[in-house]
Amino acid sequence: MRTWAARAATALGASVAALAVHDLTQRRHAILRNFPVLGHFRFWLEAIGPELRQYIVTDNDQERPFNRDQRRWIYTSSKNENNLSGFGSDDNLELASSYLIIKHAAFPRSPAPPDAPVPSAKVLGAAHGRARAFRPASIVNLSAMSFGSLSGPAVEALNRGAAKADCLQNTGEGGISSHHRHGGDLVWQIGTGYFGCRDDDGRFSLDRAVDQAASARVRAIEIKLSQGAKAGLGGVVPGVKVTPEIAAIRGVPAGETCISPPRHSAFGDVDGLIDFVETLAGATGLPVGLKSAVGEQRFWDDLVARMAARGEGPDFVTVDGGEGGSGAAPLVFADHVGLPFRAAFPRAYRAFATQGLTDDICFIGSGKLGLPDNGLLAMALGCDMVNVGREAMLAIGCIQAQRCHTGRCPTGVATQSPWLTGGLDPDLKSVRAAAYVVALRSELSRLAGVCGQPHPALVDLDDFELVDHGRHATGAREAFAYEADWGGPGAAIRAGLLSVLAEEPDHVP
Ligand SMILES: Cc1cc2nc3c(=O)[nH]c(=O)nc-3n(C[C@H](O)[C@H](O)[C@H](O)COP(=O)(O)O)c2cc1C
Repeated sequence: MRTWAARAATALGASVAALAVHDLTQRRHAILRNFPVLGHFRFWLEAIGPELRQYIVTDNDQERPFNRDQRRWIYTSSKNENNLSGFGSDDNLELASSYLIIKHAAFPRSPAPPDAPVPSAKVLGAAHGRARAFRPASIVNLSAMSFGSLSGPAVEALNRGAAKADCLQNTGEGGISSHHRHGGDLVWQIGTGYFGCRDDDGRFSLDRAVDQAASARVRAIEIKLSQGAKAGLGGVVPGVKVTPEIAAIRGVPAGETCISPPRHSAFGDVDGLIDFVETLAGATGLPVGLKSAVGEQRFWDDLVARMAARGEGPDFVTVDGGEGGSGAAPLVFADHVGLPFRAAFPRAYRAFATQGLTDDICFIGSGKLGLPDNGLLAMALGCDMVNVGREAMLAIGCIQAQRCHTGRCPTGVATQSPWLTGGLDPDLKSVRAAAYVVALRSELSRLAGVCGQPHPALVDLDDFELVDHGRHATGAREAFAYEADWGGPGAAIRAGLLSVLAEEPDHVP
């Protein structure tokens, strides 16, 4: 025994000595030359910093992008566990600025059962007469996240979850993979890389697009102009995540960083964009929309003016806030390019509202809208549906380690490492994804009832105030400079929605 212990001690001593020699002789890290051996602890602590802060150091409301309270609500909802809180709010209303308050009715409506359907108020594609127009069954859907940035099991879990929750899964710009084919309905996103519909030179091919759309449960097509986390830049999948399978789907070399250009080659101006939408919609019969972050206002004004003049154009617009997530983005883009949702969405909406076109467009919002308060405000601002990205990742096990860009996501959600993805069971996680979507839908519906409305799309901005430092409150309509009839659906859409709701067996009139 003593010999064994002595041998182990000698081996340990030799390793430490070897490490010390290495540290003293290397030139890359001053800290290791100055503090041999001990200096490694700094790197280790830096690496596990997010987890340390998350589990030990920070308050319930401190972390970003999602604080502990928010994550706990998502985790417990996804597991169908108790998602209530006890003792009272720990938010500091005395210090907070623009703190959102929802004004309850004195006589609220009785809530619908938690799993009651909450369909979209608008029929996607109806205003432009698309052959395959449809009313989305859920106001909460899964945001664009490609196979490539997410692992195969994660995409599969979300697809199965979408089928269970009767919602839509957006493929992200990386194309349609085998993992997207497990029964969930899809919004197929086409980015500047045209993955799944590119010819041999990387240019858009309509024939391939038609074939691709017909090959899976595609219900709508989204043309990606930009996303909030890296507005003005194309997509990027680091080489470490470009496996042979991903390379084959995208038609790019394996192991090399896959970059999509910042702009489309199939069109270069607003009229070209509208032509592209009409060509795709005409060839597939599907509703076609676009996704964009909000920067220069001229684009939105031009788009709406040309849509009004031509009577054509996108069936839906997804506005992504600058606080949105990404698998990999330059820090300055994530932090400083593209307006945050509450500033962004009203600008895009206003362009449509001033031309009287809001009823012809289905508005979708994203950017931390997978939390009930944010989601409800988005709907009052005019969103017909909200997309959830990182919240859905949390629901399937993400711990906000913020390593999506390294290929070393510890939970197997945003990595292609066979070892790490092996821990993610798509069957179990699909149940969690669905439970989270259903819980969010139900909470939005319950909040609508609290405001006296039968559906979240009918809640309006007059039901909100923004409180500064616990004292001064501003009505949300005034704060967002919305005119009296902005934010909600017009009379015909409202009537259509109420008649759909009336057909639900559990509907409370
Ligand atoms: C891992 C990851 C991958 C993403 N991939 C795409 C993509 O392919 N296309 C896109 O338009 N947006 C992409 N996004 C952005 C999301 O679709 C969404 O717009 C954004 O994260 C805001 O929603 P959230 O706050 O609910 O996450 C991605 C986000 C994440 C976190």
